[in-house]
Amino acid sequence: MKLLVTGGAGFIGGNFIHDTLERYPEDIVVCVDKLTYAGNMETLFPIYDNENFHFEKADIADAPAIKAIFEKHKPDVVINFAAESHVDRSIEDPGIFLTTNILGTQVLLDASREFGVKRYHQVSTDEVYGDLPLDRPDLLFTEETPIHTSSPYSASKAGADLLCQAYSRTYKMPLTISRCSNNYGPYHFPEKLIPLMLINAMQDKPLPVYGKGENVRDWLYVVDHCRAIDLIVRNGTPGEVYNIGGHNERTNIDVVKTILRQLGKSESLINYVTDRPGHDMRYGIDPAKINKELGWLPETKFEDGLHLTIEWYKNNESWWQNVLDGEYQNYYDKMYGDR
Ligand code: NAD
Ligand code: TYD
Repeated sequence: MKLLVTGGAGFIGGNFIHDTLERYPEDIVVCVDKLTYAGNMETLFPIYDNENFHFEKADIADAPAIKAIFEKHKPDVVINFAAESHVDRSIEDPGIFLTTNILGTQVLLDASREFGVKRYHQVSTDEVYGDLPLDRPDLLFTEETPIHTSSPYSASKAGADLLCQAYSRTYKMPLTISRCSNNYGPYHFPEKLIPLMLINAMQDKPLPVYGKGENVRDWLYVVDHCRAIDLIVRNGTPGEVYNIGGHNERTNIDVVKTILRQLGKSESLINYVTDRPGHDMRYGIDPAKINKELGWLPETKFEDGLHLTIEWYKNNESWWQNVLDGEYQNYYDKMYGDR
């Protein structure tokens, strides 16, 4: 099988490519990535010499470039991970989120139609459902929960999902969508909660917790997410949406304290800062459908996954130091300087 994977120089796409080439040595993977601030070729170094791996630098919103890549590689399957993915950046500057996440998806859908790909898979997020109240732990997002977005990021992801569903119905495209909760693991860009906190803690820097730290996220180890996508792409039913989640809801402050405990660092590093505007209170996913239809279950317990993640960041300091040395430092100073 020949898979065209967009956004593979990023966190989840990178983990997905590593896992796919290891588990399916006969498959061919073509990675298409624009290499934005979040794309990192170092994430792909471990597989760069694999003869079944190809890399194409391109913007998914650039229709002629994408068409040329489809013409050259003729993929069987397209999996779209490429996105602007950070909520805080979307609040600062929404435009690029619409261009990449919505128009980029449209370009990929059109090329997939034109070249008759056998399966298009859209990697979406639980954030398209909005948020849940803290005092109703019984409520969870199902695939039937109405779309109800909060941030420019989630609105752009929802726009892409709706477009996918329109292409599925109108053009009968063989297409699936997955909506996953928050991931963590190796190669996670340090602007997101878990890598930001553990890198700051390792350097004895303050840990900026938004508001009171009581917002809840449902954390899933990235490899478990990759395995779920793999199952959907190979065995899922075209036209369907699948929720993916770890039944692992935690408050942010609980996550931060667990990181500090595992690193043996003091809670005095915690620094409560101004809250994020429009901050979603709680995400909670019901993954019953993917479990029942495809037999998927998360395999990694949070404490174990966090331990693996911390070990990876300890052993791969050059990966994150290179990120911190670049343009990211300006972002950090701007976002946290006088927060
Ligand atoms: P990321 O920001 O780490 O990586 C995104 C990748 O996409 C980068 O390599 C970047 O260079 C590339 N990219 C961005 N714009 C592009 C463009 N116009 N053309 C080509 N490449 C482009 O993101 P991630 O955390 O790996 O997320 C991957 C996908 O999973 C996204 O679609 C995101 O919405 C979704 N998702 C993420 C999470 C999470 O917890 N991180 C949870 C659920 C869903
Ligand atoms: P994040 O990793 O940005 O993911 P998302 O907003 O997509 O869920 O944030 C996870 C949670 O952590 C969210 O409630 C915001 C909070 N947070 C902080 O408290 N401090 C930080 O520095 C960051 C980046 C996030």
